[in-house]
Amino acid sequence: MDRQHAPSLGLGGQVVIVTGATRGIGRGIAHFLAKAGCQLSLTGRKLERLEAVQRELALLDNEALITRADVADPESSREVAERTAERFGRIDGLVANAQSFRPVTPLAAVSPADIDLFLDTGPKGTLWLMQAVLPHMQKLGRGRIVTMGSAMGNTGAPGYGPYSAAKEAVRSLTRTAAREWGGHGITVNCVCPASVAHRLPPDDDGVRARAFATMYEDHPLGRDGDAEADIAPAVAFLLSDASQYVTGQTLMVDGGGIMRA
Ligand SMILES: NC(=O)c1ccc[n+]([C@@H]2O[C@H](COP(=O)([O-])OP(=O)(O)OC[C@H]3O[C@@H](n4cnc5c(N)ncnc54)[C@H](OP(=O)(O)O)[C@@H]3O)[C@@H](O)[C@H]2O)c1
Repeated sequence: MDRQHAPSLGLGGQVVIVTGATRGIGRGIAHFLAKAGCQLSLTGRKLERLEAVQRELALLDNEALITRADVADPESSREVAERTAERFGRIDGLVANAQSFRPVTPLAAVSPADIDLFLDTGPKGTLWLMQAVLPHMQKLGRGRIVTMGSAMGNTGAPGYGPYSAAKEAVRSLTRTAAREWGGHGITVNCVCPASVAHRLPPDDDGVRARAFATMYEDHPLGRDGDAEADIAPAVAFLLSDASQYVTGQTLMVDGGGIMRA
C-alpha cells in the first residue's frame, strides 16, 4: 500500500487503541490507521518493539502513544485506557488484537498452563480491555470495538484445541457485548483474519514456499493475506461509521479460505 495514503473512511482524528501492535496483523493495522489519520494508542509486552513501531509511524507524521502492557492483566488494561484518554481526550475505538501462543499440541497433551495462557490472553484479555474502554465510549455515546477470532474455531484444526476454544470464546463475548452495549451507540464485531507470512521462517530452503503451497491449495484467492493491505481495511470499516448498523457479527477476512473446511 502507498506509504502515505489509505482510504480514510472518515477515521481522521479518531482515537483508537490497538493491542499487540508490535508485529504481524496488529502492526499492519497500526500502519493503515496511521495513514487514515487516526490517533493511536499501541500496546505490546516488549518496549523495544513498541518503540520500533512508534518510530515507523513517526515517519508517517503520526505520534503514537505506546504502553507496555500484558493483556492478561486487568490493571494494565485500565492503565492503557486511562493513559489513552489522558493523552488524546477520548477513546473512539478498540482493536483487541493481542493473543499469546504456545506450540501446537494434541488435546491429550494439553496442560493447565497451556490452556490458561490462551484463555488469559484471548477472551479474558479482550474482556478486560472492553471493560476498560466502556466508560469512555459511554461518555461519547459512541464506540467501535473490533475483536479477533480465528477460522480455526470453526474448523477444529488438530493441535490447536486451546487456541480455537479461546478464539470462539472471544466471538461469544463479542455477541454479548454487542447486545449489552448497543444502547450506548457501541458496536462490537469480530474479524477472523488470515495473514501468516510473518509467522513462518524465512525461506532458505523452500520450506516456507512448500508451507504456503499447502496452506493456500484450493484457496479461492490462492494467496496469503497482507496485514496492512488486506486485513486492516476490513478492521477500519468496522471502526468507521460505514458499519454503524453492523454489530455482533464475525467477518471472515481470509480470502474465502473458510469455504475449504
Ligand atoms: N496470523 C493469522 O493468520 C491469524 C489467523 C487467525 C486469527 N489471528 C488472530 O489475529 C491476531 C494477531 O495475530 P498475529 O498472527 O499477528 O499474532 P502475532 O504475530 O503473534 O503477534 C501478536 C502480537 O500481540 C502481542 N502480544 C502477544 N501476547 C501479548 C500479551 N499477553 N499482552 C500484550 N500483547 C501481547 C505481540 O507482541 P509482544 O510479543 O511484543 O507482546 C504481538 O504484537 C491474534 O488475535 C490471532 O489470534 C491471526
